[in-house]
Amino acid sequence: MKSMSVAMKYFAFLFLTILFTISNAGPISATMQKRDVFVPPITNPTNATVWNSGEVQTVSWDTSAAPVNITNKFGRIQLRQNGNTFPLVLADGFDILLGSYNITVPLLITGVYELVLFGDSGNFSPDFTINGVSE
Ligand SMILES: *[C@@H]1O[C@H](CO)[C@@H](O)[C@H](O)[C@H]1NC(C)=O
Ligand SMILES: *[C@@H]1O[C@H](CO)[C@@H](O)[C@H](O)[C@H]1NC(C)=O
Ligand SMILES: *[C@@H]1O[C@H](CO)[C@@H](O)[C@H](O)[C@H]1NC(C)=O
Repeated sequence: MKSMSVAMKYFAFLFLTILFTISNAGPISATMQKRDVFVPPITNPTNATVWNSGEVQTVSWDTSAAPVNITNKFGRIQLRQNGNTFPLVLADGFDILLGSYNITVPLLITGVYELVLFGDSGNFSPDFTINGVSE
């Protein structure tokens, strides 16, 4: 991803600007916090993970402590940085009991991110690195 054109960098900048603008408006994460039963810990990515924009990568989580009756069995995966959850949805509507799901890493500015797995509630991965375009 080293030889990104100026146009691509500009696109990534616009994209992130829009994401932050929307996520700072707030309503998305506020509504998500209300459901709270099953919060499976994310097992991948770890703090040693490095992903590249455009790659298909596997998000995994531990379902061993799942309650018998899950209030919301559908999962959703988003990204987060500096406490802001991006509205971009990487995957949605999958069975939270699957334990893993493949996503395509979006085009982002290279940096440290967290994944959020929403089901009944939101659970964060550790900080990990995504290599995209340089700022
Ligand atoms: C990364 O995770 C490993 C295993 O959980 C842990 O031992 C280590 O302290 C972590 N490193 C950082 C920088 O958080
Ligand atoms: C799960 O739901 C079923 C059907 O509604 C109910 O019979 C059962 O008692 C519930 N189990 C638990 C552990 O809540
Ligand atoms: C998920 O992605 C991994 C890594 O690219 C790949 O090996 C695996 O076959 C994919 N699984 C599915 C169900 O697409």
